[in-house]
Parts: sequence; C-alpha cells; structure tokens
Amino acid sequence: MKKSLLGVASAIALSSSAMAQDIAAGKVAFNQCVACHSVDGNNGAGPSLKGIDGRKAGSFPGFRYSRAMKSASVNWNTQTLDTYLTDPQKLVPGNVMPFSGVADAKQRADLVAYLSSLK
Ligand code: HEC
Repeated sequence: MKKSLLGVASAIALSSSAMAQDIAAGKVAFNQCVACHSVDGNNGAGPSLKGIDGRKAGSFPGFRYSRAMKSASVNWNTQTLDTYLTDPQKLVPGNVMPFSGVADAKQRADLVAYLSSLK
C-alpha cells in the first residue's frame, strides 16, 4: 500500500516535471512567433496570445483580424492550437497569418504546452 502510494506520487512528480520541460522548450520554439505575437496583451503584427487557451478565434480586443479569422467557429484549446499550427490554412482557410506552420509534432506539442500556460 505504502509502496503503491509512493509510486503514484513519483509518477505525478515525473509528469509535472515533464510538463515543465515541455513549456520551457515551447518558450524557446516561440522565438519563431515573437516577431508578430506578444504574450503580454499588446497587439503587434499579430494579435497578442495572452490567455489564448479558451479564447474564441479572432476575438482579442483591439486587433484587426481578417474576416476569415473573425468568422471562424473555432475555440482555441490544445487540440485546435495543434491543428492550426500544423497547417494554419487548413483549419482557418483564408486567414492572413503569414506563417506556414510547424512541421515537427514534438515542437508543436511543446509550443501548445507553452501557449496553454499563458494566462
Ligand atoms: C509574420 C507574422 C506572424 C508569425 C511569425 C506568426 N503569426 Fe500567428 N498570427 C499572425 C496574424 C497576422 C494573425 C491574425 C490572422 C488573421 O486575422 O487572419 C495570427 C493569428 C494567430 C493565432 C490566432 C489568434 C486569435 O486571437 O484567434 C494564433 C493562435 C497564432 N497566430 C499563433 C502563432 C504561433 C504559435 C506562431 C509561431 C509558431 C505564429 N502564430 C507565428 C501573424 C504571425
């Protein structure tokens, strides 16, 4: 009993440190995005990604989105962010983000972990 509880505790510790590593790697991968996206609420060439997880697509205040992004019925979560970053034009056809996507699945997962950590 004691042993299995310890096992559970260390599994939890392991998965949360794995998560922290993903977020740290995602923050590095986010260097591809910083020219256009802030995480502090200021819009630039792209909308700020502050609080992106749980936001409706095309809804950040003060940013002039394309019609395509504004009318997309997409809510951002880990799944839709991964799909968008795989192929932005496939999930939101006609959106004007001048970025073709991230081909590497692990790098995308890290990026999504980082994006989801932005509150
Ligand atoms: C060259 C500029 C540029 C780069 C680089 C770029 N983006 Fe964007 N991004 C945009 C623009 C512009 C939009 C708005 C598109 C529209 O309105 O159609 C956008 C939209 C988005 C959205 C939807 C936001 C919302 O509020 O609905 C997400 C998510 C996003 N980008 C993530 C990323 C990530 C992650 C990266 C890096 C891997 C990245 N972008 C790289 C310019 C860029």
